[in-house]
Amino acid sequence: MKLSVDSVKVVEVGPRDGLQNEKVVIPLQAKVSYIEALGDAGLKVIEAGAFVSPKWVPQMADTADVYAEIPKDPGVEYPVLVPNMRGLERAIESGVKSIAIFTAASDTFNKRNINMTIDESFENYAPVTARAIEEGMRVRGYISTAFGCPYEGDVAPERVLEVAARLLDLGCYEVSVGDTIGVGTPMQVQGVIGMLLQVIPQSRIAMHFHDTRGTALANTLAALEMGIAIFDASSGGLGGCPYAPGASGNLATEDLVYMLDKMGIETGVDLNRLVRASMIIAPYLDHPLPGRYLQACAKAAVPVVATSVVQ
Ligand code: HMG
Ligand code: MG
Repeated sequence: MKLSVDSVKVVEVGPRDGLQNEKVVIPLQAKVSYIEALGDAGLKVIEAGAFVSPKWVPQMADTADVYAEIPKDPGVEYPVLVPNMRGLERAIESGVKSIAIFTAASDTFNKRNINMTIDESFENYAPVTARAIEEGMRVRGYISTAFGCPYEGDVAPERVLEVAARLLDLGCYEVSVGDTIGVGTPMQVQGVIGMLLQVIPQSRIAMHFHDTRGTALANTLAALEMGIAIFDASSGGLGGCPYAPGASGNLATEDLVYMLDKMGIETGVDLNRLVRASMIIAPYLDHPLPGRYLQACAKAAVPVVATSVVQ
């Protein structure tokens, strides 16, 4: 197999996409230590939280405190999710330098997730993005349900392209194309990316796979074949979206990095340290982490110690 990609940017979404769905209260200090450990593992983009409504997503209610506490490595970007102007104001107050806005390729999911249709979300995000850019922030754009919607079923690739182009027109530097409920398959992935590449350079396209049906790595390989070199992943495979029924784990960062390492594709991420980061958050969850590499480590009794950082 011959690939044009020799290095990949990994966007770590565990502390946000991963934790947002957890029902148990996770102590602030555990989140902070987890993010710090992810940085120690070499990740250069770590999503630190979300300035969304705490009524909608209680687990992210402490994002301002988490953001204030994390020791900021100047070489690491710590984006936070922002759903509206109120969220942006909170981000500005916190001194955040990078945000992510999020919409979808299907109206029903978007209504459930942010209580806005796609068109309404663009009306909402236009002033938010303009203000964020004025404040010197970088703005990333997410497209959920790009490969299927839990409420509407199939999603046309043309719809994904339309939403992606609108996000870039607003001023997003990159679009993350999300398989929110993990229904995508490799040929479908290549179809969607082929459609996007007609208009958007590959350097501005990221893929965000969920491994709900075990297709995330196959989809990653399909995207690599199309020249995509930016992938979102969640350490340990943490994750799910509270407004997408059945949306379990994100692609595990360990599984992604293991595969890329073995293929000779550079990520800058140290796998052992990454496992250590996952083991920092693991004791606070009420379920085991689903990532395959992590489970293989556990079976092989690789000496990674689960430590509780909060007594
Ligand atoms: P709403 O209820 O329509 O809006 O929610 P509202 O303006 O009526 O606000 C309701 C309450 O929230 C009010 O408080 C507001 O002040 C407050 P009350 O007056 O009742 O006391 N509020 C806020 N508080 C703090 N920060 C804010 C904020 N905004 C309003 N920013 C809203 C609309 C967008 C706020 C809500 O729907 C929301 O927060 N949704 C976020 C849902 C979410 O976080 N979903 C998960 C992330 S997306 C995802 O996981 C997918 C992704 O990973 C990619 C993929 O996998 O597909 C990105
Ligand atoms: Mg997600």
